Amino acid sequence: MKIQNAVIPAAGTGSRLLPSTKAQPKEMLPVGRKPLVQYVVEELEAAGINSVLFITGRRKRAIEDHFDADPELRVLLESIGRAHLLEELKYEDTGVSFFYTRQSEQLGLGDAVRCARDFTGGGPFVVALGDSIITGQAERPLLQRLTDAYDDTDGGCVIAFEEVPEEATSRYGVAAPATEGDVFEVAELVEKPAPGTAPSNLVVSARYVLPPEIFDAIDHTPAGKSGEIQLTDAIQLLIRRGHRVIGVKLAGSERRCDIGNFESYYRTFVDFALADKELGPALAEYLKAKLAEQRTP
Ligand code: UTP
Repeated sequence: MKIQNAVIPAAGTGSRLLPSTKAQPKEMLPVGRKPLVQYVVEELEAAGINSVLFITGRRKRAIEDHFDADPELRVLLESIGRAHLLEELKYEDTGVSFFYTRQSEQLGLGDAVRCARDFTGGGPFVVALGDSIITGQAERPLLQRLTDAYDDTDGGCVIAFEEVPEEATSRYGVAAPATEGDVFEVAELVEKPAPGTAPSNLVVSARYVLPPEIFDAIDHTPAGKSGEIQLTDAIQLLIRRGHRVIGVKLAGSERRCDIGNFESYYRTFVDFALADKELGPALAEYLKAKLAEQRTP
C-alpha cells in the first residue's frame, strides 16, 4: 500500500535549547546551510509522500513561512543583482502539499499525533519527528524499509530503532524484541526505563508508520509520569490489544541526529558543516589548527 500522508510533530517547547528557542522553533535551527526541518521534509519527499501535516503551536510561525513561496523575496533578489541566489529557494517548489494544525497545549507527543486524526482520513500514515534528522546512506532508505515492513503487518505499526549504549536507554522508549534481525517483532515497549532495567539497547528513533487505530489507543492512554501523553504508551496499548508492532533497525551506516539538546546540536552542526562541499575543507583545517592550539602547553 502506498502511504502518501505524513505528520511532522513540531509543537514541543524545545526548553532544553533555551534561550535559542524562546522566539523561534527548534525545528528551524540551522544545521549546515538549511533549517533542520527542511531535511525532514526532503526525506519524506524522497519517500514519495505528497501531503505533510505539521503539528505546530505558538512561536512556530517560521515553519509555515519557510515552506511558503515568497514572490517578494524573489523580486528583491533579482532587483539587487543576486538572481543566482534564487537557486537557494528551489526547495519551495516541492511536489508536497503542506497543512498546519495547532496543538494548543504541549500535552506530549501522543497528544500531538492525535491532532492529525482528520488529516489522515482513516488510513495509515508516517510520523517523522521534526527535531530529528536521519543521516547516512543505506541500500534502501529508512522510510522505504518502514513502509515495506508495514505492508507485511496487516494493520500493525512499524517503528525505527537505533542501538545506543546501555547507559543512554533511560532517556528513550525501549523495545523488548520478540525476534532477532534487522526487522523484528516487538513484544513490549518501555518508556524511559530506570537505569539498569532496559529490556534491550534498541531505542525508538523518530520515524514511525502508524495505523488509524492509534487514535483510539491515544484516547485511552493516560498521561505518564511527566504529565504528557506518550506515543510509546499508546503503541504499547496497541500491542496489548493484539496489534503487531514491527521494529526496523537503523543500518550501520545510518544515524539519528536528535537536535533536542545542545550537545547533540553542536555535533550535528559540525558534521554537516564539515560535509559542506564548498566550505567544509577550510573548516576542517580551521578545526585542526584550533585543536592543535589547545594541545600546545
Ligand atoms: P521532545 O520530547 O524533544 O520535547 O519532543 P520538546 O518539548 O520539543 O523539547 P524539551 O523537552 O522541552 O526540550 C520530541 C518531538 O515531539 C514534538 C516536538 O516538537 C519534537 O519534534 N512534540 C513534543 C510535540 O509536537 N508536542 C508535544 O507536546 C511534545
